[in-house]
Amino acid sequence: MGIMDKHKVLEKNATLLLVFSFLVVTVGGIVEIAPLFYLENTIEDVEGMRPYSPLELAGREIYIREGCYVCHSQMIRPMRDEVERYGHYSLAAESMYDHPFQWGSKRTGPDLARVGGRYSDSWHVDHLTNPQSVVPESVMPKYGFLLNRVIDGAQIEDLMRTHAMVGVPYSEEMLASASADFAVQADPDGDWDGLAERYPKAQVRNFDGQPELTEMDALIAYLQMLGTLVDFSTFTPDASR
Ligand code: HEC
Repeated sequence: MGIMDKHKVLEKNATLLLVFSFLVVTVGGIVEIAPLFYLENTIEDVEGMRPYSPLELAGREIYIREGCYVCHSQMIRPMRDEVERYGHYSLAAESMYDHPFQWGSKRTGPDLARVGGRYSDSWHVDHLTNPQSVVPESVMPKYGFLLNRVIDGAQIEDLMRTHAMVGVPYSEEMLASASADFAVQADPDGDWDGLAERYPKAQVRNFDGQPELTEMDALIAYLQMLGTLVDFSTFTPDASR
């Protein structure tokens, strides 16, 4: 009996086919899944990654609340057209402090994973207030009301504690200075040395240009840090793992 004939036996007997299919799927599943339990970490350690600063985290909440992810992805795929347009492809580590992640599934607008530093703060204010004023053909909605929504960071420590519960390494020191760090990031005249030490590369500016600290400040602080933490001039993928 040739191999094809043997296979015929399987194909003609539904029960046998079921049993053997189950065996194949089980073996395949074990081979794929079991090794993951023995890896300490499936995310490569990447220099420069740190948890979001309080103001950036607040901005990220606004990004989620307003549904920006419905039109924007935050994941650059390792393909030439994407890398040439948006920059270095996204690393797993770059979203390891994102709960939930903001990879998105649709691009009505461009990917935002590396939008940080691409435009000035005032461009963002103009664009978010009235996208069509800077990109006439834009279909993005207006978010000018963010300029009128003053925020004080009263809940930011609780929000950070929530993130800490799901694994973001906020230290006691970070939690204790949460609301001070929150306010000082938008106040370049304040004492922000501690903030800069706790959150390297945190950008300290009056993001929306108004005296009050608003949701616009928080959202722009978030947008301006996206994709800026890892230094890709020195980054090399770890091939030893
Ligand atoms: C209905 C879909 C839609 C929604 C919702 C949306 N955008 Fe956009 N966005 C676009 C489109 C389309 C563009 C490209 C045209 C333009 O620049 O306005 C864009 C462009 C942008 C850009 C410029 C990106 C670049 O590289 O040029 C930023 C930044 C941005 N959006 C941020 C946001 C934020 C933040 C929110 C949520 C507050 C948001 N968008 C919500 C559709 C959307």
